[in-house]
Amino acid sequence: MKKIIAFLTAVLIPTLSFALDGKALFNKYSCSSCHAPDMRLVGPSLHEISKKYGTSEKAIRKVAQLIIQPNPANWPGFAYMPPFDIPMEEAIAIAKYVLIDSLKEKTKKSDETFEQFEADYH
Ligand code: HEC
Repeated sequence: MKKIIAFLTAVLIPTLSFALDGKALFNKYSCSSCHAPDMRLVGPSLHEISKKYGTSEKAIRKVAQLIIQPNPANWPGFAYMPPFDIPMEEAIAIAKYVLIDSLKEKTKKSDETFEQFEADYH
């Protein structure tokens, strides 16, 4: 039993959490070719997407859905984003990076806390 638990913690859990690393998936699917954290490229910046939707569980699900099936009407003036045929759990991990972790990375580089930054943003 102990060996099984050791195996689970040593091998499986890191593998699972790596597989669902939102930032890694964001880069793997080349989202970064059209999106940057705080600058508009072809698509809106991650911070303005976070500003639009917030950081709630509901927002994460909604944005995950929009990654799989984008709705260009939400961003007038931009080109169309291609749909991504990826599993929902990956889309959720990416949505967490887009809405929350990209903001956290920003606050690490500044004096603001995530809470202050989030309050300004939403
Ligand atoms: C070819 C460029 C391109 C790529 C690649 C791309 N996007 Fe986009 N994205 C856009 C554009 C343009 C918009 C705004 C118009 C739209 O939603 O169609 C957008 C919008 C979005 C939105 C806002 C959705 C909404 O309706 O509010 C999210 C979230 C997003 N992208 C995430 C991603 C993620 C995650 C990936 C990678 C899996 C990705 N994008 C790949 C161009 C791109």
